[in-house]
Amino acid sequence: MTDKGVAAVATEDNAPTERTDAGDEQAPPGIDVRTPSPARIYDVFLGGKDNYAADRAAAQIAIEAGPDIPRAARENRAFLGRAVRFAVESGIRQFIDLGTGLPTQGNVHEVAQSLDAGARVVYVDNDPIVLAHARALLPPSRTTTVIQADFRDPAAILSHPKTRSLIDFDQPVAVLMLAVLHFAADDEIRATIATFRDAMPPGSLLIVSHSTTEGHPETGDQATGAWKNATARLQSRTQKEIEALFDGFDLLDPGVVWVPQWRPDPGADEGTRWMYAGVARRP
Ligand SMILES: C[S@@+](CC[C@H](N)C(=O)[O-])C[C@H]1O[C@@H](n2cnc3c(N)ncnc32)[C@H](O)[C@@H]1O
Repeated sequence: MTDKGVAAVATEDNAPTERTDAGDEQAPPGIDVRTPSPARIYDVFLGGKDNYAADRAAAQIAIEAGPDIPRAARENRAFLGRAVRFAVESGIRQFIDLGTGLPTQGNVHEVAQSLDAGARVVYVDNDPIVLAHARALLPPSRTTTVIQADFRDPAAILSHPKTRSLIDFDQPVAVLMLAVLHFAADDEIRATIATFRDAMPPGSLLIVSHSTTEGHPETGDQATGAWKNATARLQSRTQKEIEALFDGFDLLDPGVVWVPQWRPDPGADEGTRWMYAGVARRP
């Protein structure tokens, strides 16, 4: 958070309240600012203001091990933009974004609705601070909603009334799992993907990005140590392990590659090697 100033925070009934933000002690009610959270650490990398001292200290551990990690976070957001654009160009008009993160620039609904105003988006995150900010920023809308849920409980997300009211499971849907699967164990993410796969009609897209230490064997473990005391630890996976997450889907070209190399915009350079990305179609 900014050291001074006022932030709008949504209460449970979604009525924004003003709060002065004079320091880390004045956190929104119910928000633990002493334990770093993945959403707020990522916010530090992206140069956001919705983070606290504990998050900045954790982010610093990662940045010391990998000075280009903030760039990797920006590249991941750019991948989100390219992948959502690709989905809309493929005819998809509905999106479920698991592990949304704090609102920043180029959110899924902004990209999708800039191409088709009727595109619908369900945002899902389990961090209450994400929910507070998302509710405050998202105007009530018939096309965009946010729910607080854990992606390891996919049945709850799929059956949630907000999901059911926005998503037509007879039409293709894009399910985004960007920079989030590395916060859960193998069996949990396999079960989540399998449950979504069964609910996704043919032609749907699974869009994934995932952290790895493979590109930095010397410093990778030091970097992932940044999440050691966070609300969720970060687990690196290999390219092979990430490819296996697409079982039951048709992996699209160019396969699982470094995030900046997934269908890059013309003129883009090679970029960083901290995350893999892939997009696959439900047959
Ligand atoms: C690194 S951010 C990624 C944000 C966004 N998807 C992106 O790629 O730009 C990870 C987000 O996943 C959320 N998250 C982590 N574990 C989760 C879980 N088990 N269920 C739902 N969200 C989770 C965090 O709260 C955080 O907002």
